[in-house]
Amino acid sequence: MDRIRIVGGNQLTGSIPISGAKNAALPLMIASLLTDDTLTLENVPHLADVEQLIRILGNHGVDYSVTGRRERQSEGYSRTVHFTARNIVDTTAPYELVSKMRASFWVIGPLLARMGIAKVSLPGGCAIGTRPVDLFIDGLQALGADISIDSGYVTAKAKRLIGTRYVFPKISVGATHVLLMAATLAKGETVLENAAREPEVVNLAECLIAMGAKISGAGTSTITIEGVDSLHGARHAVIPDRIETGTYAMAVAMTGGDVMLENARPDLLQGALDILAQTGAEITTTNSGIRVRRNGAGIAPVDITTEPFPGFPTDLQAQFMGLMTMSSGTSRITETIFENRFMHVQELARLGANITLAGQTAIVEGVSKLKGAPVMATDLRASVSLVIAGLAAEGETIVNRVYHLDRGFERLEEKLSGCGATIERLAS
Ligand code: EPZ
Repeated sequence: MDRIRIVGGNQLTGSIPISGAKNAALPLMIASLLTDDTLTLENVPHLADVEQLIRILGNHGVDYSVTGRRERQSEGYSRTVHFTARNIVDTTAPYELVSKMRASFWVIGPLLARMGIAKVSLPGGCAIGTRPVDLFIDGLQALGADISIDSGYVTAKAKRLIGTRYVFPKISVGATHVLLMAATLAKGETVLENAAREPEVVNLAECLIAMGAKISGAGTSTITIEGVDSLHGARHAVIPDRIETGTYAMAVAMTGGDVMLENARPDLLQGALDILAQTGAEITTTNSGIRVRRNGAGIAPVDITTEPFPGFPTDLQAQFMGLMTMSSGTSRITETIFENRFMHVQELARLGANITLAGQTAIVEGVSKLKGAPVMATDLRASVSLVIAGLAAEGETIVNRVYHLDRGFERLEEKLSGCGATIERLAS
């Protein structure tokens, strides 16, 4: 298994191109199931999760082709991908595929809406928590689906879904994506209340509108969808990745330096940027992206609580904890979205961090320096928090289980070494 070797201590200086967002690309790709025309997506990142979803969609009969914008210095940066679901050959998403990536459960919405039936494996829990699917089932039932659960599979049937008013009992990004997609082909009007307001939901809604859907209110907590009989093809761009943006911004805040995050959009993560500014980083927005600087000043401690958008994202919690390990005081980090998202705490401790857990809150006492060590993590964002900490630590850090990073960070080593970091992949 590949590992990443980092020798910490270098400031980061230069520019980093921000890729298309993984968590926007995945639902957009799934939306291709809603039409027999071609859906062309620009700025699709080259990531393990994207490749896995291509396999899953292929199993349903979706053809795809890549016409590159191989836009940067090397091949493989975000591409233009064409998805065509002319013939859906299989409405079952099997356990072997769904268990590898939770978001693949989301095919249930478009398959049901277009084909009248979908049989999708339950995704199971994952490293960050139990992650049930009750909201998906409840919401699809509200749209008139007949749902049964048997032998680990959810089977949903409906001749045609029927518009309804549905109030999410809890905010869920995935369930909002799924009900939004399903409702586009339902008969009549659907009103989704307490919907997720994440930028990825807006990106999906804009794509669906380009495909002929009638949607208003995406980005607010009430989304209204007037069902149509069919959708057509479209061309649509994936938004820049706000989590990748925040991750590199925190890396610079931690190591010091001056980096331009090209193509980054501040409106996608303003809450997190404001917090970062409170820690002492200088954030400026230009036409080409976001510039992050920290020169000389220390890192001020700041308390955060993760919340649905526009609050502080859970997907940046681990990275922010990495930053706070070297602050000049005590910070409290509270996780409210997932019940088990502190696996990085023990690994950061291996680098010399001083963190105490009290239920859903981590109390981080800043230390003046971290020291490199071998570490590993069990999820994507936790892994990258160890990379950030390793960049600021003295000496060598080896990050094991690199496949987590490959799920969500495009060319991580190349982007960081381009800014002066000593970081390399050690092939197994
Ligand atoms: C999306 O996951 C993201 N994944 C996650 O990013 C992100 O952490 C999460 O949203 C929150 O922002 C993708 O977009 C692919 P949720 P999702 O449904 O949609 C509970 C990453 O690292 N819930 O908003 O699965 C759930 O357990 C990943 O890129 C139910 O109780 O998250 C959680 O506590 C990790 N019942 C809360 O809602 C349900 O039926 C929010 O989860 C569904 C969810």
